[in-house]
Amino acid sequence: MIGVYDSGYGGLTVLRALRASLPTHDFVYLGDSGRAPYGGRDTDTILDFAEQCVERLFEEGCELIVVACHTVSCVALRHLQRRYITNVSRDTSPDTPSDTSDVSRRILGVTIPAAEAAVARSRGHIGVIGTARTVSSGTFATEIAKLGPHRVTQRAAPLLAPLVEEGWEDGEIARLAVSRYVAGLGDIDTLVLGCTHYPLLTDAFAAALPPSVTLLDPAPFVAARLTDWLGRHSGFVAPGTGALRVLCTGDPERFRAHGERFLGEPLPAVSHVAEEGGRLAHKARVEVRVGQVVR
Ligand code: DGL
Repeated sequence: MIGVYDSGYGGLTVLRALRASLPTHDFVYLGDSGRAPYGGRDTDTILDFAEQCVERLFEEGCELIVVACHTVSCVALRHLQRRYITNVSRDTSPDTPSDTSDVSRRILGVTIPAAEAAVARSRGHIGVIGTARTVSSGTFATEIAKLGPHRVTQRAAPLLAPLVEEGWEDGEIARLAVSRYVAGLGDIDTLVLGCTHYPLLTDAFAAALPPSVTLLDPAPFVAARLTDWLGRHSGFVAPGTGALRVLCTGDPERFRAHGERFLGEPLPAVSHVAEEGGRLAHKARVEVRVGQVVR
């Protein structure tokens, strides 16, 4: 089973591409919607939330997890791989290899497929737009620099993900916000949509940029890379029946209703998980009575 993790709804745009490429695989999606947005959070909090989420997905039976969230991929992927794939604890020097490598599971991210796709298309100047932490991490610039001598101009756009969550991606406010954010990107020829929410703003980006700029949604490239990886590691994840299970930390009904815009199809029933003692546990819905009494 393949786990897909995002801070909230946005990763459903990645899941959509993954399911289109791998229709017979089973997926579990975990959206940490109750604690999103992650984009302006400090590193320790992102690492803590990310650990809880990947542990939940491993407990659900996933052998492989795709960290669909660009913020987590940029800030925490190396940490997660060291902690769970090589069993190196947080306190151990990260460069100390462990002899307890767990090769029966993997955690993959979205940054490298996005960087590769951008470099393959760019004529020399790549723009990256994402959350504040995606940009401040410098991870996109680092990965692009490994692939070629491209110029990279980054822009943090903290208002865009909440705007999409609100369902305002088609309106004037979205168009104004996008055009203001892209204004400082100069003569870029390719723009990486470095946040899982931004594919829903494609029309607003296209309207704000000259037609010569290639808009790059990383999701299909992440799907192509994963399909290739599974082909090279046959048997690592057994194919299933195309089943989908969805978990979230926020309101499951709201997640199901809003999620359809991101996944492009109705979501199945969504299960609720919530933090309890540093872990994400399954939670039954609690009936809260409203109205007060005098005691
Ligand atoms: N899913 C996050 C990302 O791709 C964006 C939303 C957030 O700030 O949590 O970076």
